[in-house]
Amino acid sequence: MVMTIVDAHNISKTYAGNGQKTTVLHDISLRIYEHEFVAIVGPSGSGKSTLVKLLGLLDKPGRGTIKLFGETLPRSDKAQSRIRNEQIGFVFQDYRLIPHYSALDNVAVPLKIAGYSRGHQKKRAAELLKLVGLESVAHHKASQLSGGQQQRVGIARALVLQPKLLIADEPTGNLDSATGESIMKILRTIHSKLGTTLVVVTHSAEVAAQASRTITIRDGRVAGEQL
Ligand SMILES: Nc1ncnc2c1ncn2[C@@H]1O[C@H](COP(=O)(O)OP(=O)(O)OP(=O)(O)O)[C@@H](O)[C@H]1O
Ligand SMILES: [Mg+2]
Repeated sequence: MVMTIVDAHNISKTYAGNGQKTTVLHDISLRIYEHEFVAIVGPSGSGKSTLVKLLGLLDKPGRGTIKLFGETLPRSDKAQSRIRNEQIGFVFQDYRLIPHYSALDNVAVPLKIAGYSRGHQKKRAAELLKLVGLESVAHHKASQLSGGQQQRVGIARALVLQPKLLIADEPTGNLDSATGESIMKILRTIHSKLGTTLVVVTHSAEVAAQASRTITIRDGRVAGEQL
């Protein structure tokens, strides 16, 4: 039986600011299954980043429920943070590394949070840097790396605790097309070799064409799906 990795039911999100409330997601329901590679596409401002932040437990929906890995989410923030750190990898368009940390120390952050020994952190982070082809810059500061290298560090960090779900929000959005393709190649390899369920938000038709399914978001609603 195929496991349901993400089961979102009627989720809505409203932002409040300047005395105004804006609903940016309206009753979205969707499922993502184990080993899928799903692309999320749609116009700028349609709610894609808002949606994947909810699925990745970086924010909470106003209404609706999200089940991950077949289970209802725990109520406590602490328990949710633990799931976010240990079972979900999140890759950002702007990398979000700690600039004055080395590549290795950036990759080690989730291991540190999870309480692993310094020795294990170094060993495991080095393995992940090797996986993304960056062993030669392990001790360079993140701020001294190119955009493509920083994104590979971001991917290594996202994978270091072997998450079942990897979410990438426009992972190639800040990169030239050749570098972007090298990042997609790494993500495709992770998906096929490690079997990680992959969700990629993208504006690129080329990237979306690599997915097994595409979900289109328009005005905060699921506007269509394509296999
Ligand atoms: N923290 C916030 N506070 C208020 N409004 C927000 C916030 N984050 C996003 N929005 C609004 O929610 C809507 C959806 O934004 P979102 O970032 O999810 O779109 P997107 O589809 O990811 O767009 P893009 O393709 O440009 O990244 C936009 O109108 C945006 O202005
Ligand atoms: Mg976005």
